[in-house]
This record gives sequence, C-alpha cells and structure tokens, in this order.
Amino acid sequence: MFPPIHRPRRNRRSAALRDLTRETVLTAADLVQPLFLHADAEDTPLESLPGQTRWSPDGLLGAAERALEAGVRAVVLFPKIADELKDSRGTEVANEDGLIPRTLRALKERMPELALITDVALDPYSSDGHDGVVAEDGRILNDETVEILCRQALVQARAGADVIAPSDMMDGRVAAIREALDGEGFEEVAILSYTAKYASAFYGPFRGALDSAPKAGDKKTYQMDPGNQREALRELMLDESEGADMVMVKPAGPYLDVIAAVREHTQLPVAAYQVSGEYLMIEAAARSGWLDREAVALESLLGIKRAGADVILTYHATEVAGLLGR
Ligand code: PBG
Repeated sequence: MFPPIHRPRRNRRSAALRDLTRETVLTAADLVQPLFLHADAEDTPLESLPGQTRWSPDGLLGAAERALEAGVRAVVLFPKIADELKDSRGTEVANEDGLIPRTLRALKERMPELALITDVALDPYSSDGHDGVVAEDGRILNDETVEILCRQALVQARAGADVIAPSDMMDGRVAAIREALDGEGFEEVAILSYTAKYASAFYGPFRGALDSAPKAGDKKTYQMDPGNQREALRELMLDESEGADMVMVKPAGPYLDVIAAVREHTQLPVAAYQVSGEYLMIEAAARSGWLDREAVALESLLGIKRAGADVILTYHATEVAGLLGR
C-alpha cells in the first residue's frame, strides 16, 4: 500500500513526541559505581583500566562523595590486598579491621544515605587468585569455600554493608550466607547474587586492577560457559529458592539475551554488570577518536536497561549520572 497509511515516523517528528513515547529511560538512580581501593596513601591511576583509579582510603571517600553528588546512590567496593596478607584460604577476609570493614565504617559515618554493596569472593585475598579454596589437585573446593564466604559476609555486614554480593559462583552460597546473616541478626541485609556470571575474557582489565588473576588454571569450573542461557535460568531458580533479594547477569552487553530471559523468569530486581572489558572497549575507541564516548556510554547502558536490567553496575556511573543530570 503506497502511500502508506501507517507512518511510525509521526511519533518521531519532534523532541516532545519522542520524549512522550520513549519506552526506556535511564536514570542516575539505576546506576551503581564500582570503586577500587587499597590501603596505600596514594591514589593510583589504573594502567589496565584507563580513567579509573585505585583509591587511597581518603581518596575513596572523595570518589563516593562525587558519585553521590552526581546522583548515584550505591557503590560496590573492590579491594587490592597487599601480597603479604594473601594466603591460600583468603584468611584476611575474616579480619574485622581489614581494608573493607574499615572503609565501610568510614563510608557509613560520612554518607549514611549511600547504599554500600560488597563483593563476596576470595580472589583479591587468595594467593592462588581464585574465588575459592584450591585443592592440591587444582580443584576449587565448594563447601569449604562457602564456609569462608559466610565469615566474609558477616564481617562486611557488621561493618555496615547494606547489600552482600557473592560473585564467587559456588553452589549453595546464597542459602548459607542468608542463614549466617540471619543467625547474627542481620535479617535486613540484602543479598545480590551474581546469578549468571560467565567465565568471560571481558574481566581481564579488572584482574589487572586488583592483581587478582588466577595463578594457575581458569575459572571455568565455577563461572558459567558463555554458550549457555538455559543454565542461567537454572541458577536463577536456585538463587530465588535460596533467598536472593536481587539477581545479576554479568557481563552485560554481550549477554543481553540472558538479561532478557532472566527478566522474564523472575519478579526479583535484575542487575547487570557492564564489566571492565566492556568499559575499556568504549574508552579505547573514544580515546582514539573513533567513537563519541558520552553518546556510546549512554546508549550501551540504555540497551542494558531495555533488555531488562533494573540496576546497572558500570565504571561510567558517576560520569553518566552527571550527563543525565544536565
Ligand atoms: C571477582 C570479581 C570479578 C569481577 C567482579 N568480581 C573478576 C573475576 O571473576 O575474575 C569482574 C568485574 C569486571 O571485570 O569489571 N570475583
């Protein structure tokens, strides 16, 4: 039929009509800022993650304050632990006066309105660079690891974490952590489970930032195979039954179908993590003058939200929030 009766362009004719008919809107309140920190007094720009910094304890407070001022209401913390504190069982995770608990207390005192999310996994603390305890034959021991993760979660909760985010992919850890938290009266502390965390090459720059790459082997016996989507729904079912409050898909951009599938199968809030490699692809292209970084950063996040994410972790959070607020 020509000329056409149906003209979708009518709704695109003006900015007012486009704004009126937009289906997905990204807001600063959707975003979580990941922050790297160490115990050193200097703020160190990260070579493996240009534009990001490994903050000193003081520097971190400043970065959190800037995030909050831009409209980002949640941060997630990733510590670089000194080599001499690392061992095969990640003993330092149980230190009530370790880098993470000290930082949580300082943040809570300074910015009580900021939501504090903490990562639960052994890799930054492990001399083997794995998320779990490594047996002599190289296997990652599930149940032994979960016991340690529970201690780690408790230390974080006591220090003021609002949301505990296990990123280790051990089986049964959500239920175990829930029980441990409730056992100490932390019923109100939420669990954001890394439900579908894939064994991804996109984590490379992050491991450089924390010096947390596995010393031997890879993470394929616990993180998911990138070819699998149905398995993500199985992990979702388990995490829901174990009491997760929010579920996560990670990475985000190359796994939009998984975000959409998880969205369709749960009533829980869905989070997605735009990981270090995704961030770096945008930064690298922008720094070469090949892409418009602000526009591409915004569009990549909008795509993740449109796919079904309610919550997005992104290294661009503070900057994008600033753009959205303009
Ligand atoms: C560690 C952890 C990783 C990331 C978040 N938590 C790395 C890994 O599993 O090796 C990756 C984040 C990123 O790449 O931005 N459990």
